[in-house]
Amino acid sequence: MSSPQSSPVRAEAVVDLAAIRHNVATLRARAEGAQLMTVVKADGYGHGMVPVARAAREAGADWIGAAVLEEALGLRAAGDTGPIFCWLTTPGEPLADAIEAGIDLSAGAPWEIDELAAAVTDRPARVHLKIDTGMSRGGAVPEEWPALIRAAVREQAAGLIEVKGIWSHLASSDEPKSPANESQLATFTEAIEVAESFGIDAEFKHLANSGATLALPETHFNLVRPGVATYGLSPFGHALPSAELGLVPAMTLRARFAMVKRVPAGAGVSYGLTWTAPRPSTLGLVPLGYGDGLPRHASNGAPVQSAGGRHAVVGRICMDQCVVNLEDDEAAAGDEVVLFGPGTSGEPTADDWADAAGTINYEIVTRLGARIPRRYVDGTQSVPHPAAPSSHPAAPSSHPAAPSSHPAAQPSSHPAGQSASHSAGQSGSRDTPSVDG
Ligand SMILES: Cc1ncc(COP(=O)(O)O)c(C=O)c1O
Repeated sequence: MSSPQSSPVRAEAVVDLAAIRHNVATLRARAEGAQLMTVVKADGYGHGMVPVARAAREAGADWIGAAVLEEALGLRAAGDTGPIFCWLTTPGEPLADAIEAGIDLSAGAPWEIDELAAAVTDRPARVHLKIDTGMSRGGAVPEEWPALIRAAVREQAAGLIEVKGIWSHLASSDEPKSPANESQLATFTEAIEVAESFGIDAEFKHLANSGATLALPETHFNLVRPGVATYGLSPFGHALPSAELGLVPAMTLRARFAMVKRVPAGAGVSYGLTWTAPRPSTLGLVPLGYGDGLPRHASNGAPVQSAGGRHAVVGRICMDQCVVNLEDDEAAAGDEVVLFGPGTSGEPTADDWADAAGTINYEIVTRLGARIPRRYVDGTQSVPHPAAPSSHPAAPSSHPAAPSSHPAAQPSSHPAGQSASHSAGQSGSRDTPSVDG
């Protein structure tokens, strides 16, 4: 068991910044020749935007990617002076602040170019033009692309904007063999040619998220934008686990039992009494619930690890608490329970929770709320776990996927992403939901 000093009072998410740096370095090596943008939107996928951005910069991230203006401006306020790209704004937002702060912004329609030009005061807006290559989210569809380019050419000539990039986003990179990737890539390449025919020679072209950074080298161009892989989670889920990609999951979610009690056979558990003890059982009360971001859909099945081993949540997950069936384990209030972590000490992973909830690992970490304090460590050795049970061999004391000790961490072991492409290409038939970050 951990020392009282390192024990969470109630619960905590421990974030290993060494793992973040390792993952950033791994992704850089995978996208050699391209610049790397680490995506830290949604509070760094729940890990903490500013600490993650700092760790990413330390590990060589050239860019930081944010979805919304508050995030981008928050990064500047926290002292990040490097390139930042922000791609999701709505009419009337304070674009002038972002332009003044030197944040690169996206435009996917002529009116967005107009808005950006109108917001300029001292320095031109740095703009990345977005082509909708087939996902039908933001961006100009190919039919409207020339109109967007013409607006950009006009305002660039007026000195109000500088076109810095052309970009798009892939819908199916978690299925590298999906024909959608090829089709989007072809549309993207064509859009670049059209822009060039209008005299737009953007410095940066970017399309690749994590799945594409890892498995579709032909989509790298000269800038990649991985998000989830930064946090050590595989965009391919169980089809190609993070260890095989040389990634180290950075977050461990742990708590202490608020109560442990023995109940007789027939005792019903939690709202709706959806689980009944089949025999006398020891139950552990975990002080975390959907109010903290645990998915209620994971009721009756989500895995945890306590000192006695792997156990399951029984009954419904409530707003603030949930119940674990410890069967006949010896346990007491205050004992530690790990909900998920890297998986190297036998604990469940975010993928296991995603399976239990019918969702993706992205959502498991991102939805964790502000009520759970984040604690930052540097190296997993400082993340104590409940004693590993005999069925789950204890983790080696060294970092599980340190580049020198983990063959899959070597980029050269996945020439041109073939290994990722091969295994993940079979993911089309898996029944996990696809990526929708
Ligand atoms: C525009 C954009 N780029 C990059 C990313 C990173 O994606 P992923 O987390 O799959 O690497 C996202 C996330 O969904 C995104 O919206």
